[in-house]
Amino acid sequence: MDMKEILKGLVENAKQRISESENPEKLNDVRVAYLGKKGELTALLKSMKDVAPEERPAFGQMVNDVRKEIESMLTDTQKELAARMLEKKMKTEVIDVTLPAKKAMIGHRHPNTIALEEVERIFIGMGYEVVEGPEVEYADYNFTKLNIPEDHPARDEQDTFFINDSILLRSQTSPVQARKMEEGKLPIRMIAPGRVFRSDEVDATHSPSFHQIEGLVIDKKITFADLKGTLQEFARELFGPETKTKFRPHHFPFTEPSAEVDVSCFKCGGSGCRFCKGSGWIEILGCGMVHPNVLRMCGIDPEEYTGFAFGVGLERIALLKYEIDDMRLLYENDTRFLKQF
Ligand code: DAH
Repeated sequence: MDMKEILKGLVENAKQRISESENPEKLNDVRVAYLGKKGELTALLKSMKDVAPEERPAFGQMVNDVRKEIESMLTDTQKELAARMLEKKMKTEVIDVTLPAKKAMIGHRHPNTIALEEVERIFIGMGYEVVEGPEVEYADYNFTKLNIPEDHPARDEQDTFFINDSILLRSQTSPVQARKMEEGKLPIRMIAPGRVFRSDEVDATHSPSFHQIEGLVIDKKITFADLKGTLQEFARELFGPETKTKFRPHHFPFTEPSAEVDVSCFKCGGSGCRFCKGSGWIEILGCGMVHPNVLRMCGIDPEEYTGFAFGVGLERIALLKYEIDDMRLLYENDTRFLKQF
């Protein structure tokens, strides 16, 4: 058969197969079948040796023309296929910009954090600074310098976790008082919030790890009246302007005299309810005038300076203020609970 006829047939066939290729893979099969190493055109070129030498240039030219023709058909179809696929993709993956957006979840502040920020706001407003101390503390600061010598029963009351004989997880924030006094810069007006530890079993009102806020004021001529006025104002700010306070005599080794402070129940106003267990009062903190022994051990002359101190349980404030009846809820990190605040 005439070579021209053969090539013409080949082009026709290729055209047919190209037009039938509905995806890039099929199209590639066609490319391999005609232009590949074992493809039909390559086979034709190999048969060149059977062609008479004088006809070879014309033959070669014809084969090359056909190759170009098939190549350009392949390229065109490939572009067409790509465009068609893109269009199809765009049609199936439509983005509906009118749909409502997914709301970004913004977290909530923990009730402890809210209560702490509230307490800090009140004391900063009265000119206090906020200081911090270490959670892993020397027994010396946690006890001795606070007038709780070795073998004093108060050490057992605050049984805690010892790292070794002289280092422990602090059982109270009071050691920050001693650290601050030792710095020697007077006067002092500070609160020290932080985590404390005790070997307590977990129940509705206890946890082996909780938070306290320590307060300390040292200056010349500080009296119990300053203590009363300050804590009264604190209670009013925290629980409302109607709040009354009651100072009950108590004992703490590091203060003398010492007191516990109750506030009138902000639920019933003092008439007695479930919240205050019928008494009309709720205990909120411990306080007192800094013991002269403590001042002396921390390098302050008790003849020249006096001061008062207090300690508040942060969880207690959070539970009271937000009417939460189980402390465990504060630690479980259940978002159903936390997102109410
Ligand atoms: N640290 C005491 C406690 O954990 C609380 C306290 C009471 C602190 C009276 C004080 C204070 O500074 O004056 O029970």
